[in-house]
Amino acid sequence: MSSDLIRVPINGISDIICARLTVRREAARIGFSTADQTRVATAVSEVARNVINYATEGVCTLRDDSNSDELHLQVTIEDHGPGIDNVVEAMRDGYSTGGGLGAGLPGTCRLVSLFNIESRQGLTRVTFSLIRKRA
Ligand SMILES: Nc1ncnc2c1ncn2[C@@H]1O[C@H](COP(=O)(O)OP(=O)(O)OP(=O)(O)O)[C@@H](O)[C@H]1O
Ligand SMILES: [Mg+2]
Repeated sequence: MSSDLIRVPINGISDIICARLTVRREAARIGFSTADQTRVATAVSEVARNVINYATEGVCTLRDDSNSDELHLQVTIEDHGPGIDNVVEAMRDGYSTGGGLGAGLPGTCRLVSLFNIESRQGLTRVTFSLIRKRA
């Protein structure tokens, strides 16, 4: 059930791996399947990699919002970088200002149950959740 927040700083490439391992461990602790652990770990890697690529540094926060009916892991990744110029475009497959595939954000959105981005100059906050009915 609900636990304290877990905070992982995203200050360099190695923190992407740390965030990935931390979210996988937390997803396992909550009771998500191995496939779902991989889903949420992949989602965290992609969004954390964007923090490093486009904003330099940020923080990833995990919250267990599970209840008696559902497993619910909420992830927030935020940075104080330049912001996303056009969030609608950024959610489109193939849109990249960094010479990437432009698959990170739309791919992440497809992996999770809830997904939201708010972005302006000085604050980008990506929030997503994986939610599953308890068996
Ligand atoms: N934290 C962020 N701060 C500023 N801009 C961002 C941030 N995250 C994403 N963006 C912008 O949104 C675009 C799309 O991001 P997305 O992760 O989908 O693709 P990508 O990073 O360009 O390529 P890929 O993830 O496929 O390697 C980026 O090219 C960048 O312009
Ligand atoms: Mg990306």
